[in-house]
Amino acid sequence: MINLLAINGSPRKGGNTETVLDAFLKGAEDAGASVTKRRLVEIQHKNCRGCNECHKTGVCVIRDNLTPVFEDILSADILVLASPIYSMSVTAEMKSFIDRGQFLWARKFVTKTLVFDKEHLAKHVGVFVGTSGQDIPDIFGAAFPVVRAFFNDSGFTYSKNVLFPGMDKHGGVKGWPESVVAAEKAGRDIVGEMMK
Ligand SMILES: Cc1cc2nc3c(=O)[nH]c(=O)nc-3n(C[C@H](O)[C@H](O)[C@H](O)COP(=O)(O)O)c2cc1C
Repeated sequence: MINLLAINGSPRKGGNTETVLDAFLKGAEDAGASVTKRRLVEIQHKNCRGCNECHKTGVCVIRDNLTPVFEDILSADILVLASPIYSMSVTAEMKSFIDRGQFLWARKFVTKTLVFDKEHLAKHVGVFVGTSGQDIPDIFGAAFPVVRAFFNDSGFTYSKNVLFPGMDKHGGVKGWPESVVAAEKAGRDIVGEMMK
């Protein structure tokens, strides 16, 4: 069974991002994956405070509702990070979550207690689902390195972007049903590929 964990960084329940993400997850589930979705806005947590304790221990000193989410991430086969573009990048919720993952970076590069070999990386896939209001070149350009950094630190090969730029001109996802169809197909295809 392929375990898929989706982290939704959009604060809007049932908004553009969640609608295409849910379609993606439906496709993934239909293709045989076991799917879990977490909405960051519902997870009360603190921001990274930059104490750098994790550089010594590999462990975050903050224990809160985000702590078990990181444990779930390390046992997922597919990690989906979903975020709309807010002020040209990912949302504050998604950035806060990724900053809290600094202990993974520390384990990889400082304490060297976290190693992902080639075999692990071949079987663990990272997907970014993004939406934006504008449809201009490189609208997701500032988001890509942010999600890439997290996929690298958590042992997922950043394999695919599922992007829906230009929500404004469609009047949102409700005016763009094709985006939902495309997202569902993307979810089905990614899981189908991994099952081969
Ligand atoms: C605070 C805020 C900032 C935004 N900034 C941008 C932006 O810089 N560029 C852009 O293309 N769209 C921007 N948008 C539009 C959203 O990216 C777009 O409507 C997205 O699909 C919203 O997804 P959601 O319904 O999941 O929140 C912004 C929206 C909000 C609420």
